[in-house]
Amino acid sequence: MAVLKKFRTRWWSQTDEPYEGEKKEKPITPAWGMRYDVRPLTISQLDECWRLDQRCFIDGEAYSRETFDYLLTAPEAVSYRAVTSGGVMVGFVIGLIEPDHTGHVTTVGVAPEHRRRSLAKRLMNQVEEGFAKRNVRLVRLEVRVLNIAAQKLYEGLGYSITQRLPKYYSNGGDGLLMLKSLE
Ligand SMILES: CC(C)(COP(=O)(O)OP(=O)(O)OC[C@H]1O[C@@H](n2cnc3c(N)ncnc32)[C@H](O)[C@@H]1OP(=O)(O)O)[C@@H](O)C(=O)NCCC(=O)NCCS
Repeated sequence: MAVLKKFRTRWWSQTDEPYEGEKKEKPITPAWGMRYDVRPLTISQLDECWRLDQRCFIDGEAYSRETFDYLLTAPEAVSYRAVTSGGVMVGFVIGLIEPDHTGHVTTVGVAPEHRRRSLAKRLMNQVEEGFAKRNVRLVRLEVRVLNIAAQKLYEGLGYSITQRLPKYYSNGGDGLLMLKSLE
């Protein structure tokens, strides 16, 4: 996930309380054969997305509601959600087309009980397709050095590590910059 320093005060909030309901719920393991759809993610799903993000990023670095408000209304955003057949959001990806016209995957997350069902792979493929339709040729993203699951996901999709980003995260953790050419 990305930390955009120029937006830091806007993108991060230490004051947002975790969603109470989500803290107490014990999710039931969903059936393995279950079907999911990938659909556009819009501002109508602001609260659902923000709450899901808090379940995905338990390292204290979940985006604030204000950040999602910004991301989901930005004209340069390319965003999708994965939903169950009942319409419940269980995954999301948000990309931004940067001023230099690179596609920037700012965040991707899947609800813990729906992981390892290729949802992140589908969401990433979809955001890349969305970027390509808007003539983006290069995609970048940042990932924690310790986040092996995400690195494996990105490597499997053809992303390569190009740079280490010392103390990139607010708790002092290092990041890795990964790039993929869409050409
Ligand atoms: C990282 C994350 C998005 C992966 O979501 P997912 O839907 O489970 O991923 P997929 O099922 O599409 O996995 C695709 C590939 O990624 C890799 N992968 C995913 N989770 C993995 C794990 N826990 N350990 C090792 N490899 C993993 C595997 O190569 C996998 O392919 P395989 O299942 O055929 O082996 C999810 O674990 C998550 O939401 N984590 C918390 C938020 C986060 O870290 N986001 C990324 C920030 S940079």
